[in-house]
Amino acid sequence: MSKQASMNKITTAVIRDMKRKGEKISMLTAYDYPTAKVVDEAGVDIILIGDSLGMVVLGYDSTLPVTMEDMIHHTKAVSRAVKRAMVVADMPFMSYQVSVEDALYNAGRFLQEAGAHGVKLEGGREVAEITQRITAAGIPVMAHLGLTPQSVHQFGGYKVQGKEERAAKRILEDAKILEEAGAFSLVLECIPAALAREVTQSISIATIGIGAGVDCDGQVLVLHDMLGMFEKFIPKFVKTYATLNVQMKEAVNQYIDEVKKGIFPEKKHSF
Ligand code: KIV
Repeated sequence: MSKQASMNKITTAVIRDMKRKGEKISMLTAYDYPTAKVVDEAGVDIILIGDSLGMVVLGYDSTLPVTMEDMIHHTKAVSRAVKRAMVVADMPFMSYQVSVEDALYNAGRFLQEAGAHGVKLEGGREVAEITQRITAAGIPVMAHLGLTPQSVHQFGGYKVQGKEERAAKRILEDAKILEEAGAFSLVLECIPAALAREVTQSISIATIGIGAGVDCDGQVLVLHDMLGMFEKFIPKFVKTYATLNVQMKEAVNQYIDEVKKGIFPEKKHSF
């Protein structure tokens, strides 16, 4: 990361500018203070406290059980660590679907209590009014189309979306509606690369892809996936940049062995 980049705080204005200039946007998830600190210091542009928290940190089978309290708790930890990146918090299942009032109140909590700079919510035209009202309250909204994991049961599994012409058309229309509603960026998850390219070229807000090809304005991955810390399943779109689970197991094995053999602690660790 350049010295200049290290000093520039990432805001919605910076993200809009990056889209305009064709500069790629990097986004990763983080859920706690130490990893958020590493990710921020490495220079990632946006840190998402994703509701993937439920699966990679809390051990649930889906994102559906994640609550507002879970999200607020982890967003607070991330916000305390981050100096440069834009911090975006995922609105969990049922925190924005019941009423506009609920959605506004819950979105506000992420900024007021947890120190986030924006919120992300899943869905197309059905969340356009909510997106508009939250944005009007001064809260930046990141939209999310394609495979929206909170609708896993409606989709019948974690499947690529927008493959048929009608579904692709709907995603393109939804992207324009959400841009119009005021979203500052849009996650495109698990859609054909050609559709993601078309959406990206059709709207003025930044698209952030995950399993959506190289032509999005930016990319996002779940941190635990890309660091090799979540072995339950590895989606096709994940590139594993490290195998930290292996290293963690080796370190723990060595520790156990040294404790059992009386090798640890040494004199230098003792008083
Ligand atoms: O919850 C999450 O981590 C997400 C990203 C995969 C975009 O929504």
